[in-house]
Amino acid sequence: MSNAENPPRPVTISQVKTEAELWQALAIREVVFIEEQHVPEGIERDAEDVKAYHVLAFQGGHAIGTGRLVMLSEPPPGETGRWAQIGRMAVLQAHRKARVGAMLLTSLEDEARRRGVSDVVLHSQLYALEFYKKQGYEPMGGVFKEAGIDHLKMRKKL
Ligand SMILES: CC(C)(COP(=O)(O)OP(=O)(O)OC[C@H]1O[C@@H](n2cnc3c(N)ncnc32)[C@H](O)[C@@H]1OP(=O)(O)O)[C@@H](O)C(=O)NCCC(=O)NCCS
Repeated sequence: MSNAENPPRPVTISQVKTEAELWQALAIREVVFIEEQHVPEGIERDAEDVKAYHVLAFQGGHAIGTGRLVMLSEPPPGETGRWAQIGRMAVLQAHRKARVGAMLLTSLEDEARRRGVSDVVLHSQLYALEFYKKQGYEPMGGVFKEAGIDHLKMRKKL
């Protein structure tokens, strides 16, 4: 709750640098994907987690959101450039629709630009399409299932 005397506390985004911070990111994903969306635990965490660039959103010292950037070894067939994939975007339910997701995405895209990435792809759950469209992502291809949930591949040129 916020008002003129009690303004909303600022949200900051920072890179995950320690193992403890990675556990905070994984804990948010556990709440959002495993508990809320019933994604099987065995596929929520994967081999990319050790290599990925992760970010955390903090408010008042509490971690409230996370996301990750994974470099792709090569562009998709027929494409050129340096590609990366954003994923595991998760904001705790009580903090949604307050621009935390947009801040996380912007921060991951900033890192992708620093790495010379030309194109970012992601797999959007159908309900989140509008969120990604608002951040400049365009659908590519058809609907497919991932973790039992309908997804669409989306792309943004940086
Ligand atoms: C998807 C998710 C990360 C978005 O985070 P968020 O912090 O709520 O999003 P933001 O507040 O930054 O939204 C930015 C804009 O997108 C809109 N938006 C966000 N989620 C939306 C949705 N599900 N449908 C339509 N619009 C949405 C917001 O209203 C806002 O619009 P505005 O720019 O006109 O104000 C969050 O809903 C979430 O964690 N969901 C559960 C996990 C999940 O499904 N992750 C995505 C897997 S593909």
